[in-house]
Amino acid sequence: MELERRPEEMQRITTPELAQAFIEERIAMVKEQVGDKKVLLALSGGVDSSVVAALLIKAIGQQLVCVHVNHGLLRKGEAEQVIKVFGEEMNANLVYVDATDRFLDKLVDVTDPEEKRHIIGNEFIEVFADEARKQEGIEFLAQGTIWPDILESERGIKAHHNAGGLPEDLQFELVEPVRILFKDEVREVGRALGLPEGMVDRQPFPGPGLGVRCPGAITRDRLEAVRESDAILREEFEKNGLKGKVWQYFTDVPDFKSTGIKDGKRSFEWPVIIRAVNTKDAMTATVENVPFELMEHITDRIIHEVKGVNRVLYDFTPKPTATIEYE
Ligand code: XMP
Repeated sequence: MELERRPEEMQRITTPELAQAFIEERIAMVKEQVGDKKVLLALSGGVDSSVVAALLIKAIGQQLVCVHVNHGLLRKGEAEQVIKVFGEEMNANLVYVDATDRFLDKLVDVTDPEEKRHIIGNEFIEVFADEARKQEGIEFLAQGTIWPDILESERGIKAHHNAGGLPEDLQFELVEPVRILFKDEVREVGRALGLPEGMVDRQPFPGPGLGVRCPGAITRDRLEAVRESDAILREEFEKNGLKGKVWQYFTDVPDFKSTGIKDGKRSFEWPVIIRAVNTKDAMTATVENVPFELMEHITDRIIHEVKGVNRVLYDFTPKPTATIEYE
């Protein structure tokens, strides 16, 4: 099959009307490609796969099987949102797999960042493949490939394997309805499809999830501290008008403890590190100047609400020399 390319003269999708026209064109194309066959989609809840899911639900309804794998490294409330939006509101054919134990058991005592990524990536493919084998009559695999992915692989910057790493017995024809779109266009299309703003405007979130924000060997209690502190940071940034203004913000909980005092007694607990950065292309980044009073408030909430934490630090380092994520 000839792989589709973005036409040189294609108008940038910047309005609901243009998004609507694109959606109608794609619905017709998907119907033509798929006919009455079934399509499988790994639905992470990220912008790209969510937009593909919403588009395909419109085009082929119950012929789409969405598989949402919870690897235990998602942010607070993410799996619940996928189930609510797709399973309940859009009535999608959604398979939810809670594979938390499978992932976290494999990651016990693994400290090397690359090995962690490798385990998470491989396990993801295995869990997804297990689910795919349970489904009857699937002939197509949908992917949220977007135009920058194609450009980056062509230029040798990043290998975008997506679900292309599936085993031999699971080779499907690809359905990639947003492959010629830039990210801002995918968001515009998502809005026109009625996806919630919180899903369309999500900040970037790495595939290995909170796993890269729990540096060193992941333990369930430290992972919980990452998840809870991240939820507080996101809530406070939203309340204080920083959501949408700051490009990416999150917390890390490194694998060391320091002395403190809690309730008049010595404590020996982790620090939470806050990171808030701005960038255009994620190749370089600067640090957000967060108001001091807000930092004090966030610190107060984290040290009182997050178990196992007695300090909060702010990472002032731009990229370079630091990367945005810790691993
Ligand atoms: P770094 O840490 O390299 O991150 O400065 C740049 C941007 O890429 C995101 N990132 C990832 N995204 N899989 C992804 O899909 C990954 O493994 C991954 N690692 C980093 C990161 O969140 C930041 O926005």
